Amino acid sequence: MNNFIYNIPVKVYFGENQLQHLSEELAKFGKRVLLTYGGGSIKRTGLYDAVVAEVKKAGMELFELSGIEPNPRIDSVRRGAQMCKEHHIDVLLAVGGGSTIDATKFMAAGAKVDHDPWDFFNEKWAPITEALPIISVLTLSATGSEMDAGGVISNPETNDKLGRVESPILLPKVSFLDPTVTYTVSAYQTACGAADMLSHIFEVYFNMDEDLYMLDCFMEGMMKTIIKYAPIAIKEPENYEARANLMWTSSWAINGFINGGKRKAWSCHPMEHEVSAYYDITHGLGLAIITPRWMEFCLSEKTVSKYVQFGVNVFGIDANQPAMDIAKQAIEKVKEFLFTTLGLKSTFTELGIGDEHIRTMARKACKDSVLPGFVPLNKEDIEVIFRNCL
Ligand code: NZQ
Ligand code: ZN
Repeated sequence: MNNFIYNIPVKVYFGENQLQHLSEELAKFGKRVLLTYGGGSIKRTGLYDAVVAEVKKAGMELFELSGIEPNPRIDSVRRGAQMCKEHHIDVLLAVGGGSTIDATKFMAAGAKVDHDPWDFFNEKWAPITEALPIISVLTLSATGSEMDAGGVISNPETNDKLGRVESPILLPKVSFLDPTVTYTVSAYQTACGAADMLSHIFEVYFNMDEDLYMLDCFMEGMMKTIIKYAPIAIKEPENYEARANLMWTSSWAINGFINGGKRKAWSCHPMEHEVSAYYDITHGLGLAIITPRWMEFCLSEKTVSKYVQFGVNVFGIDANQPAMDIAKQAIEKVKEFLFTTLGLKSTFTELGIGDEHIRTMARKACKDSVLPGFVPLNKEDIEVIFRNCL
């Protein structure tokens, strides 16, 4: 087992009406706040008014940047960084899902440098050594951006969607997680969020490194939580228990805690980011389509034990069967959950995605080398997985 460092300094206010503490938290960081949000859901739900009232209560000056896209674009980051500089912003307030929070993280870092924020992602890999403080108000349970130190930004000019993790500089200082705020999330986005969280756990759980039994049990508990509560949230959008369980799982699936000493890289995410970069699809949907095909590709005598552990502990599959049978049943259970229970589309073809970019996407996903994940994947392997998604 490898040594590891645990350090997640995000203060979380969890639960209904916790937003009343926003003013006191904002005021700790200065006088001028940049409120960032997406395409307007926060105005429709009334959250915008509640947040603005808190900013006023804090006696702070408010600036706003709206229109952050799902799969947020570098142009939004550029605008935000520029606004921070122009208006001498002290703190950024991101109100939204992963796209808004991710974009805000790189606005906060971009405010501290003179170069183009895209240089954080391209071959220049410009250092991120400081950032303005961020407070987040999460509105969609999925990415975990509210409690992690990374983000993913798209550049449509180059068909790139690239991520960067900069622990702990980009962590929100404070995150507000009120499950009632997610009551208005559509069934589709709830399903995509569930697929995303599940994948965050798979990326760590499916790993042949020896690690803590305790962490494997914790991950199995989170997977069971998603499998239990996502369908309830879809059927009963205002079910507090379901929304609360999903919300807290969103944060803990990716805040670093479950990594323990595991060092392997992720697999499905780099592949999905290529698909989103070329086709601008919802991240969780892309993961839902890729994940079972990746599981099928990686299954072998060498890896089968992990599938057995997963199938038996998470789906309750009868352990008294040959290992390969259990593994295949486990993959079928994953498909059933994603495509039948959650109702997500199951192929690229249904999304209008053909094989036109598959070779390039495969090459870019592994950077012309190897994705060193659960099973190392080269570009030919990734191409096979993509083709199996068609
Ligand atoms: O833009 P608005 O109008 O707010 O609407 C959004 C958007 O259309 C809507 N929405 C959000 N909260 C809502 C709501 N609608 C009604 N009621 C609410 N309460 O949902 C749509 C999707 O929002 P978005 O923020 O794009 O979704 P998500 O949270 O899934 O974020 C996806 C982005 O995060 C990245 C993804 O790649 C993608 O770009 N990721 C970030 C990660 C991270 N920071 O660690 C890790 C993830 O693996 C992921 O890559
Ligand atoms: Zn994800």
